[in-house]
Amino acid sequence: MTSNIPGFFQGTEMPTAGWWEALWPDPAGVLAAVGLKPGMAVVDLCSGDGWFTLQIARVARHVTAIDIDAGLLEVARHRLLESAVSNCDFVAGDAYALAELVPHPGDFVFLANAFHGVPDRPRLARAVRATLRSGGRFAVINWHQRPREETVILGEPRGPATELRLSPRQTIDAVTAGGLDLVEVVEIPPYHYGALFEHRGR
Ligand SMILES: C[S@@+](CC[C@H](N)C(=O)[O-])C[C@H]1O[C@@H](n2cnc3c(N)ncnc32)[C@H](O)[C@@H]1O
Repeated sequence: MTSNIPGFFQGTEMPTAGWWEALWPDPAGVLAAVGLKPGMAVVDLCSGDGWFTLQIARVARHVTAIDIDAGLLEVARHRLLESAVSNCDFVAGDAYALAELVPHPGDFVFLANAFHGVPDRPRLARAVRATLRSGGRFAVINWHQRPREETVILGEPRGPATELRLSPRQTIDAVTAGGLDLVEVVEIPPYHYGALFEHRGR
C-alpha cells in the first residue's frame, strides 16, 4: 500500500489490520518512558489515527495533532471525541512546515513511526527546533534496524521495509545535525527504541 499524497513520507502508511493495537498495548507507558509530563504543550507530529494522540491529550495541557492525511485526522478527531477529550487541535499539513503550522513555542514534539520515511531528516529536526522553546524536547520513536522478517506481530512480519529502518546512531546523527542535543535513548520493547533530544537554546 502506498499513498499518492504529495510529500508523503515513504513507508509511513498507517497499518490497515488490527495489529497496531497488538504492537502498542500501552501507548501511555511509551509516552511516560520518553518524558511526557502533565502541563506540557505538545505536538504529535505525523499523528495518524490518533492512537498516541489520545493518550498524550490525557496527560498534556494541550496537543496539536499534525498529519498530511486529513482523513486520518478525522479518525483521530472521532477517537478523542468518543473519549470526551477536547484539548487537541487537528492540523492537516506537511511535517516540514511544522514551524508555520504551530507558530507558538511548545514543550514537546512527539514523532512515532515516521522518521524512517523522512527524506531530509536534519531539515525536519530544524523545523522541530524552531517550534520548541529553549529546554523543550523532541521524542523520536523508531523501529529497530532489524530485518523485517524478525519483527513478527500476530503471526506476520510487520513494519517498514528492512532497508528503511534506522539505527539509533543514524537517528542521533540526523537530529543533532538539525541543532538538537541528545538526552538519552530508551528501549521500547519488543521492536522499538525512543531517542530523546533537547533544544538547548544556542
Ligand atoms: C505509520 S503512521 C504512524 C502514526 C502515529 N504516529 C502512530 O505511531 O500511531 C505515519 C503517519 O505519518 C503521516 N505522514 C506521512 N508523511 C507525512 C508528512 N510529510 N507530513 C505529515 N505527516 C505525514 C502518515 O499520514 C501517517 O499517518
